[in-house]
Amino acid sequence: MPTHRTGIRTLAWEGDHLVLVDQTRLPHETAFVNCRTWREVGDAIRAMKVRGAPAIGAAAAFGLVLAAGEIGAAERQAFLARLEAAAAELRGARPTAVNLGWALDRLLRRAREHAGDPSALRTALLAEAEAIAAEDVEANRAIGRHGAQMIGPGERILTYCNTGALATVDYGTAFGILRTAHEEGKGIQVLACETRPFLQGARLTSWELLQHGIPAALITDNAAGYLMSRGMVDRVIVGADRIAANGDVANKIGTYTLAILARHHEIPFVVAAPLSSVDFALPDGSGIPIEERAAVEVTHVGGRRVAPGGMPVLNPAFDITPAHLVTAIVTETGVAAPPFLQSLEAQRAVHAARRGGR
Ligand code: MRU
Repeated sequence: MPTHRTGIRTLAWEGDHLVLVDQTRLPHETAFVNCRTWREVGDAIRAMKVRGAPAIGAAAAFGLVLAAGEIGAAERQAFLARLEAAAAELRGARPTAVNLGWALDRLLRRAREHAGDPSALRTALLAEAEAIAAEDVEANRAIGRHGAQMIGPGERILTYCNTGALATVDYGTAFGILRTAHEEGKGIQVLACETRPFLQGARLTSWELLQHGIPAALITDNAAGYLMSRGMVDRVIVGADRIAANGDVANKIGTYTLAILARHHEIPFVVAAPLSSVDFALPDGSGIPIEERAAVEVTHVGGRRVAPGGMPVLNPAFDITPAHLVTAIVTETGVAAPPFLQSLEAQRAVHAARRGGR
């Protein structure tokens, strides 16, 4: 599998444990976290050492492989019950991104179907987790190819949060489109929003843009409207944590604001995500759980308190952009146009046919 230009991978299984790039330490330090138990994987997801919907899905899958190794029970039913209990805890680590539950369900299905003893089953689960990781890289590259086709020469593209190699197993979703368009010589320029409060844009997307030599500028989230009004943004491309069947999109808090601004200025608003981020069971975005994170993320910047003590805080980590504000959704199967209920379902059918119904 390919690696980051720096030679590091967002996550990798190394013999008997999972290694993660510690995303809370970037860009100042490239540090790694070794997860040897499934609880350590859950902790890393909660602490956002690994983050981004596809990356936490793959990490959780390897977490369940660790759980399978930790479960002592030799009897099949007892083994499965304990595996399901571990999966339930991992699933709750972060509630908004559907990739987490999607990956865990895939491993649990594999476990239930598997006829062998627990040791053979553990090997089968590792193969399934590796398949999820490999498919994610493949999907991102396809998203990059499909999405880059819509980009014109010299476009100035605004992006949000971090959707790059760090947020996935490798390559990136929305960032994958930027990367492909740049590699194809389209002469794009990127505006990266800093993404308060966790600063994924300032810390992580900036780091990836510099790695790839993509012409870019970092902007405050508050600058987006002004830059759009001055004609300095041709397109917005963002990722997604969960997309409902009708095309409503849950993504990093502030995405909805950008979608409204884009509509006001008649700028295309594009969402890029693998089909594993589409929750076909949810008719619309009203059913998507929105994670509320700790107040300290808002009261402190870079570890230093900026708000007075005792000030109450609201810190929703995601918001919902209604489908009517979305111009297109790019997945590994192509570019879906509105109405998304039909176009996403058509993409699911194509994808299932290609994968033999998996
Ligand atoms: O809280 P985070 O950093 O996990 O949120 C990440 C995002 O919102 C991304 O846009 C989304 O997961 C897509 S990543 C390919």
